[in-house]
Amino acid sequence: MQSKCMIPKNILRFDVVDSTNDKAKELLDRDIQEGTVVLADRQAAGRGRYGRAWASPPGGLYFSILLTPKERNAQLLSLLSGLPVVRTLRGFGIEASLKWPNDVLVHGRKICGILCEGVYRHDVYWAIVGIGVNVAVDLRRLPQNVQSTATSLRREMGRNVEPESVLADLLKEYDDFYATYVGQGAERLLMEYRGLCTTLGKDVVIETAKGRISGNAIDVSPVGALVLDTGGKRMEIFEGTLVRTV
Ligand code: BTN
Repeated sequence: MQSKCMIPKNILRFDVVDSTNDKAKELLDRDIQEGTVVLADRQAAGRGRYGRAWASPPGGLYFSILLTPKERNAQLLSLLSGLPVVRTLRGFGIEASLKWPNDVLVHGRKICGILCEGVYRHDVYWAIVGIGVNVAVDLRRLPQNVQSTATSLRREMGRNVEPESVLADLLKEYDDFYATYVGQGAERLLMEYRGLCTTLGKDVVIETAKGRISGNAIDVSPVGALVLDTGGKRMEIFEGTLVRTV
């Protein structure tokens, strides 16, 4: 089994970057080691899934982990990367759960988003796992349209928490998670995911590139697709946004 403690290999810290994922990609052109973490106090152009913006005011935790998994499937790693976040937040006594694919929610409000991107550099496949957690963000500094659906550790705990202490725990959890992912494969992690994902068992509407698809979310497949029962027909959704839970 892969030994633990490969994350963080080292932490490259910046006051402000456009996006830690973009900074990580830039760094790949230099001599960079797997397990490097790119961390920023703020992002000027933080990115979310599907090119959406990720508002990144001070008080949040914004970082990207650089990995070279043998399994060249950023999608599965992306799906499962919510697990170490949930484990970390639960360690703080927060009742976190997952919304497919990898949003981390507390009492129905989003506390963390994950953007995992796969890129090749000189024939090496890199997965850049970008994680943004609203630790002590002033929620009034988020765009108005997300203020009512977002939360932070500070709001949930009723006291201030330092992003550094969340980072330390999260990197430990991620290291542990990644050792399992690489050493044992995804099966046990998928089981854990199924237990934590509140989307499963619900009637949902998913926005995909081909339009909206509705059905009952019955499972996640071994490669990380959401399995829907659309009136007797089984469908696997690889990419999409959950727009509604019926
Ligand atoms: C989403 O929910 O749409 C994903 C949000 C991911 C945000 C993080 S913050 C650190 C990393 N850098 C980015 O530009 N995005 C990710």
